Amino acid sequence: MCGIVAFNGLNDAEERIIQGLEKLEYRGYDSAGIAIIEDDKLQVVKAAGRLEALTDKLKDRPLKGTVGIGHTRWATHGVPTETNAHPHVSSDGRVAVVHNGIIENFQAIKDDLSEKGYTFYSDTDTEVVANLIASKFQGDLRKAVEDSINDVVGTFSLAVLSVDDPDKLIVTRRESPLILGICDDGVFAASDVPALLAYTRDVIYLNNDDIVEIDKDSYHIYNHGNPVQRDVQTVEWSLESAGKEGYDHYMIKEIFEQPKAIKDCLRRKVTDGFIDLKDQSFTKEEIEAFDHIYISACGTAFHASQVGKRALEDALQREITADIASEFRYNMPFLNENSLLIVVSQSGETGDTLAVLREAKLRGAKVLAITNVVGSSVDRESDKVMYCDAGPEISVASTKAYSTQLLSLYLLALDFGYKLGTYGREDVKMAIEEFESIPGKIEEILEDIDTLDPIAERLAKHPAVFYLGRGIDYLSAKEGALKLKEISYIHAQSMPAGELKHGSIALIEEGIPVVTIITQSPLVEKSISNIKEVKARGAYTIAITDEISTQFSDLSDAVIRVPAISDLYAPILAVLPQQVLAYKVSVLLGNDVDKPRNLAKSVTVE
Ligand code: M6R
Repeated sequence: MCGIVAFNGLNDAEERIIQGLEKLEYRGYDSAGIAIIEDDKLQVVKAAGRLEALTDKLKDRPLKGTVGIGHTRWATHGVPTETNAHPHVSSDGRVAVVHNGIIENFQAIKDDLSEKGYTFYSDTDTEVVANLIASKFQGDLRKAVEDSINDVVGTFSLAVLSVDDPDKLIVTRRESPLILGICDDGVFAASDVPALLAYTRDVIYLNNDDIVEIDKDSYHIYNHGNPVQRDVQTVEWSLESAGKEGYDHYMIKEIFEQPKAIKDCLRRKVTDGFIDLKDQSFTKEEIEAFDHIYISACGTAFHASQVGKRALEDALQREITADIASEFRYNMPFLNENSLLIVVSQSGETGDTLAVLREAKLRGAKVLAITNVVGSSVDRESDKVMYCDAGPEISVASTKAYSTQLLSLYLLALDFGYKLGTYGREDVKMAIEEFESIPGKIEEILEDIDTLDPIAERLAKHPAVFYLGRGIDYLSAKEGALKLKEISYIHAQSMPAGELKHGSIALIEEGIPVVTIITQSPLVEKSISNIKEVKARGAYTIAITDEISTQFSDLSDAVIRVPAISDLYAPILAVLPQQVLAYKVSVLLGNDVDKPRNLAKSVTVE
């Protein structure tokens, strides 16, 4: 996720900004840059890759000045290159900007500014903001920023410098975090607390649309043109816990980031309540021409793909093939130049997934990728790309990537179904309304997670756990079992609930925990029979369900309720308690939650 550090004061800005960016490295980034006003001139230094690449350049040419802005970029528009790195400067060379967030209407603003003679060199939405502010500037930088954000649709935190007002730093935010750090020798603005802690613990959390005018020895906060006061608060966190924003582990932080990740994922794919994938998808004619559609991925991404298969089958009313990449790469005899391959990968660097993609390209097939990492190999080598927009996922156990992979696949299915006429306008609108309700529903589940403690304690004591489900619930159970096994090291076995009686029921004994997912309305009664089967053999039964029937309370030792949603979309909510349970068990067992044994975040080898 991008990081911003800006400073205006009485002492050297470069040193303060670089040390702040170093403290934000944990967030993940792919390029970095800094702009300082030196002798009333704007000096900008940028580098692709690690911060060291930037600091190496600065060793040769240190920047002297006491006002500046810095940035670490996690690519969202355009690949990670020096040109796309921030700060971005207006084409007249007068305004420099660093930005976190997404400017949704950047294309419309860009077209308008191009007509007025502004030139663009990068693929980013941020460069549009630099030019927009330059176009509005009439002697008052704060006013120019205020006028500009009135034109912008989307999310942002911004730090702005201008040679026309060389002693001033302007910062603002909407939906994307930005904090002020108040020091004796100046004022910082940063996207996250760790960037400030070496210099101050006195911070101000800005509200949406606050604009701050920072001078050498003072700062003033405005909101919609009116001066406002915001309280200075003292940060009590240690530097270590500040990196995780107060959470004990990245995994639980990322679980709690899911409402935001879902909103960000929707932002790029929906316009005015309607599906709008733009060039992320194929035309009606292209979709009709595919003789077969395949989906391939590994691990959690494969579990999302299997749900995606169901959604696409519903949309296209024909069979789709989903296969694990490590298997499919050696067994894809029918994939040819008329096929579409969809690959799903958080990192975009998974070796097996890339092998499938490359073989498909060799055979002349079209490839659509769903990935979280802009500029990854999967991104660069595919014909079409949908980004998950989940932000960097640091914990090895995938959580927010899974839910945004699911959502991306649902949106792709909706797009295909609408283009082919399976779904009408009303169907699409209703589905989007359901997607927009998901962040609130996830928050509802997360409010209650302490109630999972006794269940986690129970799971932590047992060497094996079963996960059951029918239909799509079986796919949710697979993801729940994978989460538990990878971070708790407990043997977790998922299976279609109806298959139990064909052998595995022999393993059910007194006290063994059995988690059953029940969200698919037509299959509820069948799943209830399966709970009875295992209960009769002494299992400790846990139901995860959106059904309100009291039958579950009578039958199950523990019932975890999730909010109701259409059956097809249920996995995006059913996974939440399963992620949290796995997390809690791992903590109880004293494991290294974020870096479990034998696992790597990105599996690039075969
Ligand atoms: O980066 P990818 O999505 O391609 O990674 C695929 C799997 O390696 C990954 O989902 C893995 O299963 C996770 N550790 C699961 O939490």
